Amino acid sequence: MKRIVLIGYMGSGKTTVGKALAKEIGLPFYDLDWYIESRMRKKVSQIFAERGEEGFRQIERNMLHEVAEFEDVVVSCGGGTPCFFDNMDYLNQQAQVVYLRCEPEVLRQHLLMGKGDRPLLKGKTPEELIGYISEQVAYREQFYTKARYMLDVSLMDNYEKIKITIEKLKELLDL
Ligand code: S3P
Repeated sequence: MKRIVLIGYMGSGKTTVGKALAKEIGLPFYDLDWYIESRMRKKVSQIFAERGEEGFRQIERNMLHEVAEFEDVVVSCGGGTPCFFDNMDYLNQQAQVVYLRCEPEVLRQHLLMGKGDRPLLKGKTPEELIGYISEQVAYREQFYTKARYMLDVSLMDNYEKIKITIEKLKELLDL
């Protein structure tokens, strides 16, 4: 049984890599945010607006416990998922967890390009963004680095490099 979970900060490419890896090894792919949105029939941003971050984290935890029970899947988490409750320890018990590490400046570029609807970044200027990301990554690394596997994806800036990342992941996870 294979259960692979990708974690990392917003903009690190968890969904892109997760989808590509799942396709390559022939497993279904779940993105935790999409799963939450379809189960709740609401956008993540709407849940944040209605219930605040605390309410979202509770829902996220409950949904994580559903998704991380599925067998033979690739799952990508939200950037904050490992950093609340005992989620990181739970994930390590359940899955082969990979931290996709990425430099804050690269994250900032991805997040500026991406049209993503991200409540935590709403209203931040491009100048404010780098300080915010650097601080959050520095804080969150204590959780992210508990993952059994880590892969640096800072240079994954084109299709060829995504393919190389998938090959590296297959080697790392013995797939
Ligand atoms: C969050 C990341 C988002 C989403 C929510 C909160 C975070 O997911 O879960 O907006 O706390 O880092 P992505 O990492 O997929 O953008």
